[in-house]
Parts: sequence; C-alpha cells; structure tokens
Amino acid sequence: MSALGRATIIRMSGIEETRENVTEPDDSRAASGPQRVAVLPGDGIGPEVTAEAVKVIEAAAERFGLALDLVELPWSADHYLATGETLPEGALDDLRDHYQAIFIGAYGDPRVPDMKHAADILLGIRFGLDLYVNFRPVKLYDERLCPLRGKGVADVDFVVFRENTEGAYVGIGGNFKKGTRDEVAIQEEMHTRKGVERIVRAAFEYARDKGRGTVTMCDKSNVMRFGHDLWLRCFAEVAAEYPGIETQHLYVDAAAMQMVRKPESFDVVVTNNMFGDILTDLGAALQGGLGLAASANLHPGRTSMFEPVHGSAPKYAGRDIANPVGAVLSAALLLDHLGHGAAAAAVESAVADSLAGGQTTRDLGGTLGTREAGDRLAVAVRGSQTASGR
Ligand code: NAD
Ligand code: IPM
Ligand code: MN
Repeated sequence: MSALGRATIIRMSGIEETRENVTEPDDSRAASGPQRVAVLPGDGIGPEVTAEAVKVIEAAAERFGLALDLVELPWSADHYLATGETLPEGALDDLRDHYQAIFIGAYGDPRVPDMKHAADILLGIRFGLDLYVNFRPVKLYDERLCPLRGKGVADVDFVVFRENTEGAYVGIGGNFKKGTRDEVAIQEEMHTRKGVERIVRAAFEYARDKGRGTVTMCDKSNVMRFGHDLWLRCFAEVAAEYPGIETQHLYVDAAAMQMVRKPESFDVVVTNNMFGDILTDLGAALQGGLGLAASANLHPGRTSMFEPVHGSAPKYAGRDIANPVGAVLSAALLLDHLGHGAAAAAVESAVADSLAGGQTTRDLGGTLGTREAGDRLAVAVRGSQTASGR
C-alpha cells in the first residue's frame, strides 16, 4: 500500500473524495495535468490556519484558472497517538516523486513531550528532501503593526536565508549516566563546507535577482571557533563572486540588538539553522506578531515545503482565534513557487489590504475569528481585478 493511503483529495471543484490508496504510476511532476500539493494540517492551531490557507488557494485557483490537486494527509500528534505512526515508510519518496509542493500547518502537542512526531515529520521532510533554504521574509505591511517607535514599512523589509539541514539540528550527541548526579549531555553542531556554501550562495543569488544591495551574515565565530569560522571563511569566498553586492558581518548578539534598533540596515540575512530560527521569531514580532510570518523550505528545482513560522499554539487551538495570515502568506509563497506569480501577488495584496483596513484577528486588535478572516481574504482574492494583483 502506498505510504499515502487514506489521503483525502480536495479537488479545486470543491468536491472531496477519499481514496484508500494512491497507487497510480506517477506522472504528476510532468508539466501536463494538475499540480499536486500535499497538505499536512498537523497539530493545535495548524488545522485551523491550514483550512483558511486552503480556502485562499482554492479562491486563487478559481480566479486565475489554476489546475491544482490538494491532497490532505493525516500525519499529526492525533494520528501518532492513535496508530504509533509518525511518517509512514516511503512517505518521503512519495512526497518527492508525486507532489510539486507541500503545505504544513504546525506541529507540537503537549501529549508528545519529546516532539517525536514533529522530529520525524517536520524535520524529517526538511532533512529528507534536502530543503536547505529556509526562506523567511520579514515585511511590515502596515505601520500600525510595528512595535518599534518611529519605524514604518520602508524600515522593516528584509528576508532571512536560514540554513535548514545542518547546524544544531542534526541531533548528534547523547547522554552519559543520564538521570544521575554525574550526568553528561553532549549536543554537537555540524557545519559542512558544501552546506554553508550553498546557503550563502542562495542568499547572494537572491540578492542579485531581486536587486537587494546587502547580504548580512550572522554567526558567533568569536566563540564557535571551528564551525562558525567555517561560515566566516565561506561567506568571504562566496561574496567575492558577487562584487556588486555589499556585505555585512555581525555577531548574532549584535544582530539581534541591531534588528530592533535599526531594522532598515537589513536587506538579505544569511545564518545558521538555530540562529535563523531565533532571529525570525524576532523578525515576526517586527512585522506585528508570529501570526503573520511566512516561510518556504526550498531546494531549487525540487518538491519544496511551505509553512507559517509560528507553532501549534496549543492554548489557542479550537477557539477560532488564531491568525491565519502567516499560513495564507505561506500559501502565497507556494503559489509563486509553482509558477503562479499573479495569483501569489493577489493573495499578498488581499492580506495587505485587510491589514491596512484593520480587518484582523484579535492578536492584532481586530475582532475577526480565524474563519471569518480567511473567508474575507478568499473573497478578496476571488474578486481581485488585475492579473498582476496590486
Ligand atoms: P507558538 O508559535 O506556537 O506560539 C507562541 C505564541 O505566539 C502563542 O502563544 C501566541 O501568543 C502567538 N501565536 C503563534 N501563532 C499565532 C497565530 N497564528 N495567531 C495568533 N497568535 C499566534 O510557539 P510555542 O508556544 O513556543 O510552541 C508551541 C508548540 O509549537 C511547541 O510544541 C513547539 O515546539 C511547536 N512549534 C512548532 C513550529 C512548527 O511547526 N513549525 C514552530 C514553532 C513552535
Ligand atoms: C520553526 C520551529 C521548528 C524549528 C521546531 C518546531 C522544530 O521553531 O519552524 O521555526 O526549530 O525549526
Ligand atoms: Mn521557530
């Protein structure tokens, strides 16, 4: 049986059907036929924000005539607790070979304190599909949302290239004499020349393509004399290939301070896995909150994965109060990745208009529930006037 058995296929007609098996030979990566998107709602508020992102993707598909098959997959804490299965055998191959993109809501459930399922599913997909670029835009859509005094939309507009397959996330280490007074715990970071070079190069390529003038690299090479020194040397070497682009190097502590004091000094940021995780929560706060931040996990030319930056926020789950915008903007990144730039622009435009108009959930001072916020965005996308969005 295919790893993707029990998938729910949501066709763009809005008709749902359930299949026991997905066994047909794959030609879905070929140019013809609908593009297939795996949808993993996950845990906590994940399913709620995912439902709104799907609504908006469906609206964009209708408005722009896109042929998409969204295939919902059940992998989550509930599924793990019920079946013992996290990511089924063969799932990564299925995702890689049968889908053009993956959308994830969020993972994390207090009933699974060791995050076993999240490690297998979320990190499993990032690592298993070698999605080495975690692209996280930090963009202020409306001045009123910025917590910094005197900063506006022109000041908070940068992107973070977080390395996504190495660093502190590789899980190398262990415990010795665990649970005793003599316990030793070791957790290693891993950085490879290939891994560092490719993420740094991705940041410079993006800067060149998008006309962004400066690439900033953040590390802690004053203390991490081996791993982060490799970053420092790779950064200098790759930067030399892009003479038109300015460079900035900041220790991460100074970078965090500077992001708050002078966010306008950042344009493209490249950093390791752990620092990228931390700095992008800070970045989300500059945009107005975690409910707004979007991300893409990319390997150019391969099946890539899209998810909001926030987690499963268990205390908000099931209450129709989570902000769906981070998920919706992640859906815009997905549409863009699939080659639907006009649809992506229309979604982003709908979000910008809703934020400017104060049509927001409670975290941003509005009164809308999760579903109502998503409904309004879907209506705006359906009615978007120009082929290029804004
Ligand atoms: P979190 O991002 O889930 O929530 C932190 C706080 O941010 C919330 O209490 C809430 O105030 C706010 N927030 C987050 N998303 C929001 C939304 N959509 N709308 C409005 N407010 C929102 O982080 P946490 O509380 O540290 O972690 C909860 C669980 O999620 C943990 O299990 C954690 O490991 C996991 N997590 C998962 C991901 C992911 O799946 N990518 C990311 C971060 C954390
Ligand atoms: C994120 C999250 C994840 C990470 C966790 C849930 C493993 O915080 O996507 O930012 O640390 O990458
Ligand atoms: Mn995080």
